[in-house]
Amino acid sequence: MNEIQRNIIISKSRLAKGTYEFWIDNELIAGNAKPGQFVIIRTSEKGERIPITIADSYGSAFRIVVKAVGKSTIELCMKNEKEQLFDVVGPLGKPSEINYYGKVIVIGGGVGIAAILPIAKALKNAGNVVVVILGAKTSSELILKNEFAFADKVVVCTDDGSEGIKGTVVDGMLKEFEIEKPNMIWSVGPAVMMKATSKIASEYNVPILVSLNAIMVDGTGMCGGCRVLLRKEEEGSVKEEIKYVCVDGPEFDGRYVDWDSFIRRLQQYREEEKEVLEKFLE
Ligand code: FAD
Ligand code: NAD
Ligand code: FES
Repeated sequence: MNEIQRNIIISKSRLAKGTYEFWIDNELIAGNAKPGQFVIIRTSEKGERIPITIADSYGSAFRIVVKAVGKSTIELCMKNEKEQLFDVVGPLGKPSEINYYGKVIVIGGGVGIAAILPIAKALKNAGNVVVVILGAKTSSELILKNEFAFADKVVVCTDDGSEGIKGTVVDGMLKEFEIEKPNMIWSVGPAVMMKATSKIASEYNVPILVSLNAIMVDGTGMCGGCRVLLRKEEEGSVKEEIKYVCVDGPEFDGRYVDWDSFIRRLQQYREEEKEVLEKFLE
């Protein structure tokens, strides 16, 4: 395939309101992607770079699931089959550490469910007992549930009780802990969800890998945009470390993430993002 044909949208489908699945032709990315990795996409020449998790790959194509939340994700979700994306870089980030752990709980909230699919599959293939907990605001926003049939157990939680447990993934997680404490946890979704699940993991002293949805600019570890503070208590003293989500992550043990500063950084451009979106929608 020549350069000009790369990054063509092979198929697009709507999974829920404002959430779309795309298969994109790029044999280099499809051939090298590992669970936990992501791409940075620029939809048009003047567009911003947005990080999106690689949800699957097959042959020369890779799959992404995108929720339209602002200008760039809306622009991407407006693209159709046969159209070409301006530029896609990846696979980026360190792959998930897939090992045999025993019982693993894999938690996905909202569009974060797409990110946990390849991780849960790989953990199952590595011989783990995989319990998947899926969370959505309401049943119609719950995506990809049927694709988790390989898991040993799938627990659904909806905020409004329209399907499964009425409550957030935290309620599902606590119920699962009552049955048996896991050896390892993955949790991907909104930052507040990853913070809440990490707090429980901390209380029970179970490692929890979260995939941080930091705001990224270059994706190369140079700009500092995606930095995160990790804080670990060791032998009575506190060790602090700055890491870059794009190159050191995106996965970190959520027990050591300084969630308050991470969430503050996510919100720092809210006014500008709102302005850009309003202008775009005019
Ligand atoms: P903006 O105008 O930038 O923001 C709109 C709203 O979204 C604001 O409220 C803002 O606070 C919030 N926001 C902005 N950037 C982010 C961000 N990075 N994460 C969370 N909230 C944000 N999204 C998907 O839909 N599917 C994925 O598979 C996916 N994978 C990701 C993997 C990684 C490693 C990272 C870092 C992020 C991922 N995201 C994913 C989030 C996605 O990158 C953001 O939603 C996107 O950058 C927002 O851009 P925007 O211009 O549309 O919205
Ligand atoms: P959402 O707001 O619809 O929430 C989904 C579920 O998360 C809820 O139903 C609930 O179960 C849980 N949740 C939300 N807030 C919670 C809280 N305070 N406490 C406990 N549980 C809570 O989700 P969305 O709008 O689809 O957003 C998904 C997020 O996932 C986005 O912020 C996106 O950036 C992130 N994401 C990250 C990656 C990654 O790899 N880092 C990949 C995909 C998506
Ligand atoms: Fe620039 Fe990570 S996005 S350092």
